[in-house]
Amino acid sequence: MPFFKAKEQAPAPAVDFDRLPRHIAIIMDGNGRWAQKRGLPRTAGHAAGAENFRTIATYCKDIGLEYLTVYAFSTENWKRPAEEVGAIMGLLKKYLLEAISRMERDRVKMEFFGDLSPLPQELQDLCRRTREISKGYDGCQVNVCLNYGGRDELLRAARAYAQDCVEGRADPNHLTAEHFAGYLFSRGVPDPDLVIRPSGELRLSNFLLWQSAYAEFYFTDVLWPDFTKEELHRAIAAYQGRPPVWRGLSGKTNFGGGHSGSAVFRCTVFPGAGVAGGADGGHLRPGLL
Ligand code: IPE
Ligand code: IPE
Ligand code: MG
Repeated sequence: MPFFKAKEQAPAPAVDFDRLPRHIAIIMDGNGRWAQKRGLPRTAGHAAGAENFRTIATYCKDIGLEYLTVYAFSTENWKRPAEEVGAIMGLLKKYLLEAISRMERDRVKMEFFGDLSPLPQELQDLCRRTREISKGYDGCQVNVCLNYGGRDELLRAARAYAQDCVEGRADPNHLTAEHFAGYLFSRGVPDPDLVIRPSGELRLSNFLLWQSAYAEFYFTDVLWPDFTKEELHRAIAAYQGRPPVWRGLSGKTNFGGGHSGSAVFRCTVFPGAGVAGGADGGHLRPGLL
């Protein structure tokens, strides 16, 4: 087994738990590289990633986060070797069975974003059961993106909207962003305030394309199975250290649960903002770069 020396890291900065983002979204990436570094098969990385999802989701619930959305399997991930796809499906099944057995205790509300129909029937049934059992829960809402792609979501929404127009239920002259958002998988869920991508990749990979229009982004080289609570603290502290974003004319900010769906723009530019790889661990600020 090769020896890895942990990178020296500054202690995680303090988080203001009274000013948490309302909704955090995470691209759970880097499982394969985590396994490769240890001379293990990629599937071992997915198992470690699934375990870490459990840890981080539980922690988010414990600190009182309202919404957590995770990217678990993309519309593009079907192109991976069948064996790897099968192993991921098996892990999802295992996770959901365990989640169901703990639901009464955890009271986490689970939702799924994506077209579930190509998933194995057993997994589809488990998703439905999980959703059904937890729909009345008022704790943290965890949205698991399965066979999810932002472009696919937008195409589905456009098709459904066009159908409503054809059948006289909608009028294209009156289409607003809020109305259109009602056709997305994420209907009813506020946009993410903070999108985190571990693993060193600096792209969205088709994740929440519509919803992340005004999200803050946090990128880190840490691989998902190594993404600890302290890493989450770093991300939240970086988010809290950034200047508030003024949205529209109402003066709402993204702190305190302000949510806006449309007509959003930044009317204040803060000097020095938008520096990628800054002191907070490396982030990009779309719109200000
Ligand atoms: C993310 O980890 C998990 C899924 C996409 C299902 P990866 O499997 O993409 O890990 P890397 O990027 O190859 O390290
Ligand atoms: C994004 O990671 C999808 C998930 C984490 C589920 P990928 O590893 O699939 O994305 P790319 O291929 O690096 O863009
Ligand atoms: Mg990857």
